[in-house]
Amino acid sequence: MASKREQQTILVGVTGCIGAYKACELVRELSRRGFRVKVVMTESATRFVAPLTFRTLSGEPVAVSLWADEPGSKVHHISLAEEASVVVIAPCTANVIAKLAHGRADDMLTTTVLATEAPVIVAPAMNTHMWRKDVTQANVNALRARGYTFVEPAYGALACGDVGEGRLADIAVIADAAQAEATRARDLSGLHVLVTAGPTHEPIDPVRFIGNRSSGKTGFAIAEEAARRGARVSLVTGPVTLPDPFGVEVVRVTTALQMRAAVLARFDSSDVVIASAAVADFRPASFASGKIKKAEAPETLALERNPDILAELGERNDGRAVLVGFAAETSGVRASAREKLLAKKLDLVVANDVSGELGFETDENRVVLVTSYAAEELPVLDKRLIARELLDRVAALVRAKRSV
Ligand code: CTP
Repeated sequence: MASKREQQTILVGVTGCIGAYKACELVRELSRRGFRVKVVMTESATRFVAPLTFRTLSGEPVAVSLWADEPGSKVHHISLAEEASVVVIAPCTANVIAKLAHGRADDMLTTTVLATEAPVIVAPAMNTHMWRKDVTQANVNALRARGYTFVEPAYGALACGDVGEGRLADIAVIADAAQAEATRARDLSGLHVLVTAGPTHEPIDPVRFIGNRSSGKTGFAIAEEAARRGARVSLVTGPVTLPDPFGVEVVRVTTALQMRAAVLARFDSSDVVIASAAVADFRPASFASGKIKKAEAPETLALERNPDILAELGERNDGRAVLVGFAAETSGVRASAREKLLAKKLDLVVANDVSGELGFETDENRVVLVTSYAAEELPVLDKRLIARELLDRVAALVRAKRSV
């Protein structure tokens, strides 16, 4: 028997369809792979398989009703949501997919899924026509865009007598997907990840500054995702309106010089630095302590160069830390990114094309991940999904560094 994987919990959601009996095998398989498994069923699912079956297979209480008197001090759906490393809904009906896509929470399963921060895997099972319906596909795509993973249904004979797509995927495939997510859920533990985010504001006088349109969303999403995957995270951010991500040390600064000081103070203990901040390249050469009246304002503003924080880290790095930079480009994206990679001694550059509508202030972005040996273009993705993809590459770079 596999070791208990530090008691990582996988929550298996079972919904009302004939494939529910196959979830019994999934529970056994995940237990065999060393996970603690807890089951949440919809009322309809209990028409197909008795909760007692799952209770016996998992050795854990089975949750069905939101109103049951559950043991423990915490609200049950919240404690399940927090405890889960991964949620797998198998089989998942078209109805539950629709509810999840619209954020509905009217039973134990959908309430738990809405409350969880864990990755969610959905293994649909239904009649071919229901699966193919554009409304179902639109719901699936909406969930995919939010980061849900789908294990596509298989082709074959269906319970209704039809032959087509709609059978629950192989249990081993679903278990593999769950295991991959569970591994990812811990792959940054033991690492200190330092993230910079947002713009910097370089004051001219008490009311005016030089700044830029960076919202900080990407850096905050990276910090949040890294913390979720077990890293100790420090987030040094310029002025943004975003709330502190949970479980992250947040250092709020204003100017590039302050950002540099906060970063350098943490660099020696960092295993990974991800510099997503749009640091102002210049600051006013002097700061007027009183508001400059327009009648007295000079026609030109004398500027001084700010230090390049990331380049300085590249110089100081003894090869121990993985350094990631960002590059906002309007043309020649890959070539400029590679130049930046070499000039600043980085391991990876996230290049984004800001010539179109995407980039600053948006929730989505299209980026190219550039290393010394490859350039990988990702599709247009939500910034949270970009964070996930980026941290997958970062985890691999950390492993590669440690193995030499
Ligand atoms: N960076 C930094 N300190 C600065 C400037 C930039 O740490 N003073 C970091 C940013 O956080 C980002 C990367 O360096 O990770 C961006 O490099 P930069 O050369 O500023 O790129 P662009 O803003 O695209 O500038 P350029 O106009 O030179 O292409």
